[in-house]
Amino acid sequence: MRKQIAAANWKMNLTYQQGEQLLDDILRAEITLSDDQQAIFAVPFPYLLMAKNELTGSKNYFASAQNCYNKKAGAFTGEVSAEMIQSLGINYCVIGHSERREYFNESNQVLAEKVNLCLDNKITPIFCCGEPLQVREAGTQNSFVEVQLRESLFHLSAEQLQQIVIAYEPIWAIGTGKTATTEQAQEMHAYLRTILADQYGKDIADTISILYGGSVKANNANELFGSPDVDGGLVGGASLIAADFIQIIKSLK
Ligand code: PGA
Repeated sequence: MRKQIAAANWKMNLTYQQGEQLLDDILRAEITLSDDQQAIFAVPFPYLLMAKNELTGSKNYFASAQNCYNKKAGAFTGEVSAEMIQSLGINYCVIGHSERREYFNESNQVLAEKVNLCLDNKITPIFCCGEPLQVREAGTQNSFVEVQLRESLFHLSAEQLQQIVIAYEPIWAIGTGKTATTEQAQEMHAYLRTILADQYGKDIADTISILYGGSVKANNANELFGSPDVDGGLVGGASLIAADFIQIIKSLK
C-alpha cells in the first residue's frame, strides 16, 4: 500500500517553546504508526533540529522544512538551501505551497528547480498544487492543476517521481473552514492519479501518495481519508492543537 500521511504545516506560527510543547503533547498520545503510515511535521527553519530530536525514536514520525531556495548555494542572504536542510538530517520539504506561490511569486518553473534540488539532496518534496476559487467556479480546476504538475514534475524520471508526495490543496479551502467535500477531493485525486498514470504508467501512479489539504479538521479527517485516492492530509490550523492533530493522525487508513 502507498504511504498514508498526516502532515502538519505550522506555517509561521508558535514560539520555539510552544512548538516543543505541542510535539511533546502529541507524542505523549503514543500513537503507533504502521509501516505504511507517517506523521510529518513541517516546522519553521529555526525549529528543525528541535523537532527532529523530539521525533527521533518514534517510528515513522519525521520533521520537514516548509520551503527551500531554488539555488544550490551562494550570495542569497536569508535563504536556506536544500543541502543545508539535508545536512540537519531532515528528509522532507514542502514545495510550492499556495502561500509561497501567491506571496512570493513562485512559478511552476521555480518550483521545478526546487524539486530538483530536493531530490539531488535526498529530500522528499511534499509538492503542493491546487486551484483558486475563480478557477473552481469556472469548472476548469482539472486542467489548472494538471499544468502545475506538468510544469513542475513531469520532467522527472519514473524513479524520481516515486520520491514525491503530492498535496492537493484547493486555495479556496485553505484556512477558510470551507473544506472540499469528500466527493470533490476524491474526484480531483483520482484525476491526478489518471494523469500520473498516463505519463508514468498505472503501477507507478498507484505508488504516489496524494494528500488533501484545506481545512482538514479532527471531525472531517476520517471521512476525507476514507476516500480511496486520498492518502492523508496536509493540515494547517488544526495541526496547532494537540488533541486535534492526534485525532487526525488516528484517522489515517
Ligand atoms: P488549513 O491549511 O488546514 O489551515 O486550511 C492547510 C495548508 O495550508 O496546508
